[in-house]
Amino acid sequence: MSEDNRTSKVEKPTRFIGAEGVVHQVFHDAYRDSSASWVTGRPQPAVMTALSRGWFDVGPLLDLGCGTGENAAAIAAARDDLLILGIDVVPQAVDRARSVIAAASLTDRVRLEVADLRDFTPAESFGTVLDAGVLHVFSDQDRADYLEMVARAVRPGGAAIFIEFSDAETRPLGPRRIARDEMTSALVRAGFVIDSIEPARYETAVHPGGAAAWLVRAIRRVPPPVGSRFS
Ligand SMILES: C[S@@+](CC[C@H](N)C(=O)[O-])C[C@H]1O[C@@H](n2cnc3c(N)ncnc32)[C@H](O)[C@@H]1O
Repeated sequence: MSEDNRTSKVEKPTRFIGAEGVVHQVFHDAYRDSSASWVTGRPQPAVMTALSRGWFDVGPLLDLGCGTGENAAAIAAARDDLLILGIDVVPQAVDRARSVIAAASLTDRVRLEVADLRDFTPAESFGTVLDAGVLHVFSDQDRADYLEMVARAVRPGGAAIFIEFSDAETRPLGPRRIARDEMTSALVRAGFVIDSIEPARYETAVHPGGAAAWLVRAIRRVPPPVGSRFS
């Protein structure tokens, strides 16, 4: 992260964000002044859809950009043997997530850490990864590096679940919009096979009815056996 991004207070975005991505200071400011529009006090409905389909049955689960922890709390409460690691770059978000997890008596299974996912090396591999609203904040350059990291974090055959603003969301405010082809080609390039991609909603305080989004399940490709013609 550049020093400028760390220290300067920046305007909240009032236009569509492009290939430059969201300036990261926005996240620090939003948690500090309680204007984080994605903090609704409850899990994202699309996370609950994924949960009801059994998409979080295989652990451990890595919750990338976990925010204030409502998604992790809901998943852990529903899957009583699942271990979860939540990561967020903003210490205030992680502090709040720790309170949410403690209030739900889930501290034995949900661990929370502060880290920048643009410079993160997973220390273990995960059966499932959740990205609720993170991929769509990155610049083109950070997106490719980030997806490579996600692919390294997921075991071959494991799943990554993404919930990101789609190009069907035409109202102002919010992160980048991602088109279906853009989403699928970025994931395929990073080593995933698309299992499912469908329209969904991402709830915010500034998009009544929820923002148009994609709910995606992508499976980490299993590498061919060493010595095979395709290795
Ligand atoms: C739109 S919010 C989503 C929060 C949560 N996943 C949810 O659905 O409620 C995006 C989150 O990603 C975090 N984030 C953004 N860039 C990050 C980075 N480089 N490393 C770690 N976390 C990041 C932000 O602090 C924020 O909490």
